[in-house]
Amino acid sequence: MAKPKTLKLWADQDRHEGDRKRLFTAVSQAITAERVLYPGSFVDIAPSFVWPDVTYVDMDRRARSFFEDVEGVAEIIAKNDPATAGRLPTDGFSTKPVVSFIPGDYSQDLGLVEGSYDLLVSLYAGFISQHCTYYLRVGGMLLVNPSHGDAAMASIDSRYELRAVVESRPGQYRVRRDDLDTYLITKKPVEITIDLLQQSGRGVAYTKSPFAYMFERVA
Ligand SMILES: C[S@@+](CC[C@H](N)C(=O)[O-])C[C@H]1O[C@@H](n2cnc3c(N)ncnc32)[C@H](O)[C@@H]1O
Repeated sequence: MAKPKTLKLWADQDRHEGDRKRLFTAVSQAITAERVLYPGSFVDIAPSFVWPDVTYVDMDRRARSFFEDVEGVAEIIAKNDPATAGRLPTDGFSTKPVVSFIPGDYSQDLGLVEGSYDLLVSLYAGFISQHCTYYLRVGGMLLVNPSHGDAAMASIDSRYELRAVVESRPGQYRVRRDDLDTYLITKKPVEITIDLLQQSGRGVAYTKSPFAYMFERVA
């Protein structure tokens, strides 16, 4: 049985019910990924509704206590993924999704294998692309939203190329690959630099505002 504290944390996280599930479902339909790394996840367990192997990283103690409730987390995942709920262990091996949690600072060495992830998630949690690209394989994707400046950071990083944007309409998300040259155009003339982004810690104002961007790691 999930602990009440676990359910409360998830209920708060999932305040816009199903929102993150819809986001990650849309992304999962657009790319092929097995292993996902989500630094600064807090308790957003929704990637595990759609991907089989997700590593979460957060320094907040509430996230730690959430993920320590292994049974509770598995229960939330099972409720949200009918396929998982229906799966049974076979030959002594569980086919449950792999959920790993690292309680720590993603800017420090996480002890993970270089290039071993297919998708790196960066949502509202700082400059993850700067610290964690090392773990993403070349050819893998970075899903990043603009809020803390990390999308702008990726846009000036030669290891990344924009491949898609995630548009949000009320209640749904759509991954678009067309007209990509019309995105990431600043409203005002400004030279985006690492220093500028680190000093402001905020996103850049662009003429178009998709919910998120998908960059491929190319180098
Ligand atoms: C605003 S929350 C966003 C949570 C989640 N990504 C979401 O979109 O719902 C930011 C989270 O990033 C975590 N965070 C920020 N910097 C971090 C760091 N250097 N290492 C680990 N976690 C970090 C915070 O503890 C917090 O839980």
